[in-house]
Order: sequence, then C-alpha cells, then structure tokens
Amino acid sequence: MFCSVIISKMKNEISIRISKKSDIKSIAIVSSGCFPQDYIVGENKINDLAIAEKWFAKRLSLKPFSWLFVAVNKNKKVVGFAYFMMIGGLSGIVQLEIMGVDEKYRRQGIASKLISQGEKIITKDFAKQFKKPIVKFILTTSMENQNSHYVYQKQGFIKTASLGELYFGAEEVLYTKNI
Ligand SMILES: CC(C)(COP(=O)(O)OP(=O)(O)OC[C@H]1O[C@@H](n2cnc3c(N)ncnc32)[C@H](O)[C@@H]1OP(=O)(O)O)[C@@H](O)C(=O)NCCC(=O)NCCS
Repeated sequence: MFCSVIISKMKNEISIRISKKSDIKSIAIVSSGCFPQDYIVGENKINDLAIAEKWFAKRLSLKPFSWLFVAVNKNKKVVGFAYFMMIGGLSGIVQLEIMGVDEKYRRQGIASKLISQGEKIITKDFAKQFKKPIVKFILTTSMENQNSHYVYQKQGFIKTASLGELYFGAEEVLYTKNI
C-alpha cells in the first residue's frame, strides 16, 4: 500500500512514486531551491538544509495521515515533490501543503503529474484505510508563486478566497477542488 513502487512512467521518463526515507535529503535540496526563504534560521541569509531535512522527515512519519510523493528521472534523481496531509481528522479534506520542481525540470508536466497521480493514490488509500471518500482537496499559495496558479487552475482547483498577507508578508490565496 505505502510501498515505493513506481506508479507511473511518463513520456519524458519521469516517474512518480511515494517517497522513502532515503529521498529526504534530495527532497530538502529541491525544496530549498524552490523556496529560498522557508528554512532560514534566525538572521542567517540562506536556508538551513538540516532543518529542511528534518521538516520533511517528520512529515514522512505521519503515514497514513499524509502522503509525500517524489518525481524521479531515469537516473533515479529526485526532481520534484508534493506533500499532502489530511486535515480535520477523517473529514476527507486533504491539503496539498507544499510542492516544488527543480528549476531545470520545469514545464515538463511534472507538477501536474504529481497532483493528478497523487490525488488518485490518496483517494484509493483513504477509501481502503478508512472506508470513506475524499471530499475535497485544498491548498493555499502565494501571489508571488505565479506559476503555481496556472498549474493549480489547470488541475481543476478553483480560487475560493484571498487570505491576505500570510507567509513572509505576501498575499495568499485559497484554492479548493470538490471531489
Ligand atoms: C509551480 C511549479 C511547481 C510548477 O512545476 P512544473 O512541473 O513546471 O509545472 P507543469 O509543467 O506541470 O505545468 C503545468 C501547466 O502550468 C502552466 N505553467 C507552469 N509554469 C508556467 C510558467 N512558468 N509560465 C506559464 N505557465 C506555466 C502551463 O499551462 C503548464 O502547462 P504547459 O507546459 O502544457 O503549458 C514550479 O514552477 C515550482 O516548483 N515553482 C517554485 C515553487 C512553487 O511555487 N511551488 C508551488 C507553491 S507551494
């Protein structure tokens, strides 16, 4: 069920699979590149990779209440990731909390695949584990991450609310997708 089988093989030889412990360092590197402010400690100028690793390692341990997916290329290099978590207990609401794709691999459909394949797996897992359906996927994103808005809208998410300034003083937007 949560094994690391390859879930889909893409035309460009990118595969999407559930992450393993051994992926954590690579995920932290990709995330740190995508989000240069997210793992800065105190007055430092750059992200602290050890903190990023810890952040993802803790999330990996939240199975079966969360899912961390990776996109890997033909050399098994992690080039993207997406982290989903259940919110509100077994409400059937799942939040896509964070996703990122290595800059060199963007515009190849990797984020889209992480979302579409991820949602399918989550829906199946949730029904199997908890005998209930997924009701809704939600996410928030910053107006600063303009590219992500295109991806989410293309994946069927609808802009539901503006949340005002949130992370690092930027305007945040709520997207939802009813299932
Ligand atoms: C947002 C992000 C994850 C998109 O990853 P990606 O793998 O390049 O996205 P996809 O290739 O699946 O893009 C799907 C569609 O979104 C749109 N899109 C994506 N990036 C775009 C860009 N730079 N300009 C215009 N449209 C864009 C396009 O319509 C694209 O489809 P197309 O290439 O067939 O035209 C990536 O840019 C990223 O990691 N950014 C930094 C971190 C971030 O913002 N994360 C999301 C917030 S948590």
